[in-house]
Parts: sequence; structure tokens; C-alpha cells
Amino acid sequence: NPLVGLVGWRGMVGSVLMDRMQAERDFDLIEPLFFSTSNAGGAAPAMAKNETTLQNGYDIDALKRCEVIISCQGGDYTTEVYPKLRAAGWTGHWIDAASTLRMDPKAVIVLDPVNMPVIKNSLAAGGRDWIGGNCTVSCMLMGVGALYKAGLVEWMSTQTYQAASGGGAQHMRELLTQYGTLNAEVRALLDDPKSAILEIDRKVIAKQRSLSAAETANFGVPLGGSLIPWIDKDLGNGQSKEEWKGMAETNKILGQGEGFGSAAIPVDGFCVRVGAMRCHSQALTFKLKKDVPTADLEAMIAADNEWVKVVPNTREATIQDLTPVAVTGTMTIPVGRIRKLAMGPEYVGAFTIGDQLLWGAAEPLRRMLRILVA
Ligand code: HSE
Repeated sequence: NPLVGLVGWRGMVGSVLMDRMQAERDFDLIEPLFFSTSNAGGAAPAMAKNETTLQNGYDIDALKRCEVIISCQGGDYTTEVYPKLRAAGWTGHWIDAASTLRMDPKAVIVLDPVNMPVIKNSLAAGGRDWIGGNCTVSCMLMGVGALYKAGLVEWMSTQTYQAASGGGAQHMRELLTQYGTLNAEVRALLDDPKSAILEIDRKVIAKQRSLSAAETANFGVPLGGSLIPWIDKDLGNGQSKEEWKGMAETNKILGQGEGFGSAAIPVDGFCVRVGAMRCHSQALTFKLKKDVPTADLEAMIAADNEWVKVVPNTREATIQDLTPVAVTGTMTIPVGRIRKLAMGPEYVGAFTIGDQLLWGAAEPLRRMLRILVA
């Protein structure tokens, strides 16, 4: 069995990856070599077979032994280790959750239910770098990739509702701590059915505005009971980096646009952090190249892959099946609210949700491993 190095398997994305690899029996097909950046020499987890000692994640010679390395260790690790490993002559396959190498012309952003042809072409050409996409982009394409594959999309605008988990584990804790602080502030008033709602509201906003630096250390401002319409860096052109990724990564995943000798499909909109835990949601507006009946669009979307599920555009189905609470922890990618918009017959709206840690991060990585070791 091929020796597969696992780095960053203890973190949040890494832990979800380990769970999925166990559930799908991926370890039956590989000899895992577990790395650590803090506990080299310690005991590897139970999935280890012959290699039961944790290796040093910065030991290039140890990393070089691997045919495949999967990293969920983060961008700083990739920046430091990947160039050294290649410079040392390593020709193995690098599978990475971090964004560092995503736009490198040699790298493929992997999302095989959407871009298997792009992956196969790169493999045939000697490709060695397989990078997981931005979570919103991957979840969106798992939902509505069918419309892109059919060449129907003239442009798309997306308004996102992104969960705390996209920031990391500490961000999830911070959100819940804030909710708790706010609840505690008004608990006595909530328990009294005769208390005045505007009094409760006044106390909540006063508390939100006076949260300590420690209570907002990760998001910088309160998120509980609020939202933050900016994710990732300020690119200085009015766009956030998360918004830039929408167009750049969507096109790269599809093998479209710059670098592929074709025009890029415009994708743009606003990315917003909301107080959800780990599901990213998106409201999509499509301008299609032609008028296609809604029922046909629904059928195309539903038939695209085994995880997408069209939610009927009714109130009851929507509030039951098209929420982060319904989707969290599942592989299902629901797409609902599919309807023609008032702007004209080529304008279509949809709403989609995905678990940011599953299809948004871990799943495309383990599926790429499967493609390599098949
Ligand atoms: N940038 C994403 C977010 C994380 O902050 O939600 C996953 O790509």
C-alpha cells in the first residue's frame, strides 16, 4: 500500500477528514504516516498500521518517504515546507486544504464530481499538486455545477451567509460565548413574560457594544446577534479576498478563463459572516444564456451528482430542508428557491447550502486520494 503522509490531522478540518477516511475505509488502501508539528516521537493515532510513531512535520527526509502527502496544517505550513520538499527532489502528490497553492498554474483545485476531466488532464500531464477549493465555491459548484457544465451561465452573482467555522475552531467558540453572554445579560427579563422587549433590546445592544477585546478576539467585532459583511483580506479595490475567490476559483475549477484560453465567467457578489456554526449558505442570481424552463433547470441540477438535492420551492420544504441546521454534518447539498426572477426569463434565483467542513474542506481531499490510489 502507498505510504501516505498526514499532516494537520488533529485540527478541525483534519479531524473531519480522519472521520470521513475511516467511514469510507480509505485506510484499507494506504499505509498512513502521521506527522506532527508539536509532538514528534509521540504515538500515532489508532489508524496507524506499521508506522506507529509521530514524525516531525518539518523533517523533509521523513516527508520525502511519502508517495502522497495530505496537509490540513494550514497555509503557513505549506508556505514553509512545500518549496523545500520540491527543492529536495520530491515528486510525490501533494494534497492540501490551504489556499496557498490554489492559483498556482501547476495546481488543480480538486472537486471531482464537478471537474474530473480537469483532474484527469492534469494527471496525464504529470500534475502533482491537488488543492481543495474555497469552501463557498466548492459547496456552490456541488449544488449548481450542472448549469455551468451545460454552458448555460452568462454570469452569476452570489450573496453568501458564511458560518463561524470558516474562520476556525476558535471562531466557533467565540460565537457561542457571545450568544451566552448576551443571553445571561437579559435572562431575568426573558424569564418575566411581562418585561418590556425594548428594555431587553436596549440591554442586548449595550452588551454587544461593550464586549471585551477577549470576547471579540477572533472576529474583531461582535458576531452573535449581528453579522459581518467582510471575509478575509481587503484587496484595496473594494473587494474582499473571499469575494475575489468566487470568480477566480469557480473558473479555475471548471477549467475556464485565463490559463485555459477561454473567457472567464463573471462571478461576483458579497460575502457575509453570519452566526451559523458550520454551514455556508448562498443566495445565487444567474443570468443564463437562454431561457430554460424552471422544471428543466431543476431536473439538470438534481441529476448532476448523488449529493445534490433539489428542495421544492415551497415555504414548508424550504424551512425544513434548506437551513444550516438541517444540513450540518451531512453530505447533502440542497438547492432550493429555484425560480425565475422579475428581471426577465433568463434570470434565475437559487439558494444553496453546504457543510463547510465536509464538501467545503475535507471531502474533496480524501476523494483525490482515492483517485490517486485507485
Ligand atoms: N474563507 C472561508 C471562510 C474558509 O472564512 O468562511 C474556507 O475556505
